[in-house]
Amino acid sequence: MQRVVCPGSFDPVTNGHVDIISRAAGLYDEVVVAVLINITKRSLFTVDERVAMLREITSGYGNVRIDRFHGLLVDFCTANGITAVVRGLRAVSDYEYEMQMAQMNYRLAKVETLFMSSNPLYSFLSSSLVKEIAKYGGDVSGLVPESVLEQLRSRLAEE
Ligand code: PNS
Repeated sequence: MQRVVCPGSFDPVTNGHVDIISRAAGLYDEVVVAVLINITKRSLFTVDERVAMLREITSGYGNVRIDRFHGLLVDFCTANGITAVVRGLRAVSDYEYEMQMAQMNYRLAKVETLFMSSNPLYSFLSSSLVKEIAKYGGDVSGLVPESVLEQLRSRLAEE
């Protein structure tokens, strides 16, 4: 049983995330998508909202499970029998930070990291850019799932 984790903030989940999750689901027996609970960082969507969005979007995959975690990712991995982390790499700019985390996670608990090159269609995409563009009325359709698009619109209308 090969169980991997796709960890992240997912505030909100983008089509780039969905691409990585679905490709990981094709390679491994089980993919746990783990949403980081970070009380110090201001987010647009609550953890519950992000978990619900991810559940809806991945409902068609029998081997994808959505969870949440706080503290160290390696502790979540140990507690859930996960031996590897899957991370998408968009560009060289991602490499330094991702490499550092991967090496530290291996040093801490022998948790491996598998890098998946992002689909070039989404290599410029990030949750923060999506939020910024949507906030100023830009068009983010095609960059996030339809359901996220609706929730982005209603959340930003409230602000
Ligand atoms: O979507 P993000 O914000 O790029 O995801 C970053 C994440 C959640 C993978 C990373 O911040 C993380 O693993 N945080 C948990 C705390 C932790 O384990 N820190 C040490 C990393 S070596």
